[in-house]
Amino acid sequence: MKKSVRKAVIAGNWKMNNARPQTKALIEELKPLVKDAACDVVVCVPFTNLETAVELCKGSNIKVGAQNCHWAKSGAFTAEISADMLTEMGVEYVIIGHSERRQYFGETNVTVNQRVRAALDAGLKVILCVGELLEEREQGITEEICGLQTKIALAGVSKDELKNIIIAYEPVWAIGTGKTATADQADEVNGYIRSVVEKLYGHEAAEGLTIQYGGSMNAGNCDELLAKEHVDGGLIGGASLKAKDFSVIVAAASK
Ligand code: PGA
Repeated sequence: MKKSVRKAVIAGNWKMNNARPQTKALIEELKPLVKDAACDVVVCVPFTNLETAVELCKGSNIKVGAQNCHWAKSGAFTAEISADMLTEMGVEYVIIGHSERRQYFGETNVTVNQRVRAALDAGLKVILCVGELLEEREQGITEEICGLQTKIALAGVSKDELKNIIIAYEPVWAIGTGKTATADQADEVNGYIRSVVEKLYGHEAAEGLTIQYGGSMNAGNCDELLAKEHVDGGLIGGASLKAKDFSVIVAAASK
């Protein structure tokens, strides 16, 4: 396996945090701190901050992402946002299938797949989240769950389109809990997900796929996690809200 063939991506998932003034302040603080990054840097902000973020990040190495999109191009879907609406604004990335969407908003593997398809069709890069619940890990079915989520989410995605997919392995029990998976646990599941992708798309495609880890990654534990063969970056929640902490993670992924 050649980690060097893959581009590390550090993405901040701001979740439902920061109104426009805080968005401006955080991005302005972040810009000089990450300007020499050797990895890709993305901030996934609330819909209402996208325009502000896109404007502020112009001419910098920070890319902007949304945290979800709908599967239809347009229509009677009150409060939803389509993938085309995002690309029109200059948004480049979108998180799909985050466990909070699955847990609190009825997102299923099938709707995750539909959203992935719509995002790819619109030209967005997708950060596809998969991960097991604590009880699933305890039952010893982590691989089955992550494999299933990956396979269903990628249904109908071609080998060429896979280049616009990043997978984020996020064990649900590690999200926002301060409980990080050990570096070995992250590497093991990321490696398993890569083997699932290899069966679907072949060796080369799987080798080239960026697979992040997410779940309480922070300035203190990022070095160990990012040093692992199959951990090609991170999806960062809490620690992405502090410019300094986020930039330490970006620096660790740039090594
Ligand atoms: P966390 O969130 O870093 O706060 O655990 C990660 C995520 O939910 O993407």
